[in-house]
Amino acid sequence: MTRGRPPGMRVLLTHPVDSRARMRLAERTNLTRWPGPYPIPADDLARELFTQDGLLCLLGDPISSAVLDQSPQLRVVANLAVGYDNIDLVAASRLGIVVTNTPDVLTEATAELTWAILLALVRGVVPARQALLDGQWRYWSPTGFLGRGLGGKTLGVVGLGRIGQAVAARAAAFGMSVVVLGSRGQGPYPRLEREAFLATADVVSLHVPLTTDTRRMVDESFLARMKPGAFLVNTARGGLVDEDALLAALNTGRLAGAALDVFDREPVDGQHPLAAHPRVLATPHIGSATVETRAAMAERAVDNLLMALTGQRPRDLVNAAAWPGRCRYTPVK
Ligand code: NAP
Ligand code: GLV
Repeated sequence: MTRGRPPGMRVLLTHPVDSRARMRLAERTNLTRWPGPYPIPADDLARELFTQDGLLCLLGDPISSAVLDQSPQLRVVANLAVGYDNIDLVAASRLGIVVTNTPDVLTEATAELTWAILLALVRGVVPARQALLDGQWRYWSPTGFLGRGLGGKTLGVVGLGRIGQAVAARAAAFGMSVVVLGSRGQGPYPRLEREAFLATADVVSLHVPLTTDTRRMVDESFLARMKPGAFLVNTARGGLVDEDALLAALNTGRLAGAALDVFDREPVDGQHPLAAHPRVLATPHIGSATVETRAAMAERAVDNLLMALTGQRPRDLVNAAAWPGRCRYTPVK
C-alpha cells in the first residue's frame, strides 16, 4: 500500500492488533503502543493524543468531542471496526480530522456469527450442553431438549447493507424466506413497512448502524408488534434496543428468545438481566472475531491511516466533509 515513511508522523495505537499490520505501521511512523491497562482510560487517551498525528483505536474507545478538542495535531482517527458510533463525527469534521472504518472485511464473519447464535438459540444448544455437563442427560427422550425449527419461517432483516445482505443470502440454506424493513439497501426481497414487517417476521435480525435515528428503534411498541413467539437477533449495536422493554417482552413470553452479541453498555457479565435470562443467548461482541478477519481489519485500518497521513484520500473515509482537512500533505523538502 503506501510506500515510504511519513516524516515524523506520530501515531498512537490503543491496543495490540495483528502483528503484521502493526509492524507495517511501526516501520512507517513513529508509533506509540499504549501498554495497558485496557481499554485505555479516557484521561490517558486525551494526554497521549496531545502530540499525535494519527490514532488507531477500538470501538470501545470513546473518541468524544472533548478528546478531539484537546488533540491539536490529530489528523486521522482509524477505527478498527465498521461501526463508528464511538466517535463524535460532528466534532471530528468540524476540526478537519478524518475518520475511517473497516468495512467489507468483516461482513462474512459477522453474518456467520449471526446465524451461529440464531441456530444455537432456536435449538437450545447452550442449555442442552449445560444439561449434559450437569449429568441431566439420562436417556433419549422424544420430549426432551426441544427447540424450534427455522424451515418455512420468515427472516426479517432490519438494515439491508453489507452484513444484512450476507445474512439474508444465507436464509435460503435454512429454508427461510426473507422480508426487509423499509426501502433502503440492495436485494431482491419484499420491502415492508414496520407494521407489516413485524407481523410477518418470525425472526427479526438487526443490521443497522447506531445513529440518532436508530437508537432504541426496538422499543416497547416495536416488540409489541412482533409476532407472538418470535425471536430477536442483534449483532449490530446494543443501543438499537430498549433493554428494559426487551426484558419485559421475554419475561411475559411474548418473545420466545433473543440472541444478543451486543449490549447497550459493554462489557456485561452474568449479573446482567438480559445476559443471564433463560430465553437469551448472549455472546461478548464477537461478530468479527475470527483470526482471519481481525488480521484483515488491522491491515485495512493501517492502510487507511497511512493513506491519510501521506495525503491520499483514505479508502474507507467516513466523513468526506473533513477531507483533506488537517491531512493536507506538505512534502518535506
Ligand atoms: P452498512 O453496509 O452501512 O449497512 C447498514 C444498512 O442499514 C444500510 O443499508 C443502511 O441504509 C441501513 N439503514 C440505516 N439506517 C436505517 C434505518 N433507520 N432503517 C432501515 N435501514 C437503515 O453496514 P454494515 O457493514 O452492514 O454494518 C452494520 C452494522 O453492524 C455496523 O454499523 C456495526 O454497528 C454492526 N457490526 C457489529 C459487529 C459485531 O461484532 N457484532 C461486527 C460488524 C458490524 P443506507 O445505506 O441507505 O444508509
Ligand atoms: C464491530 O462491532 C464493528 O462495528 O466492526
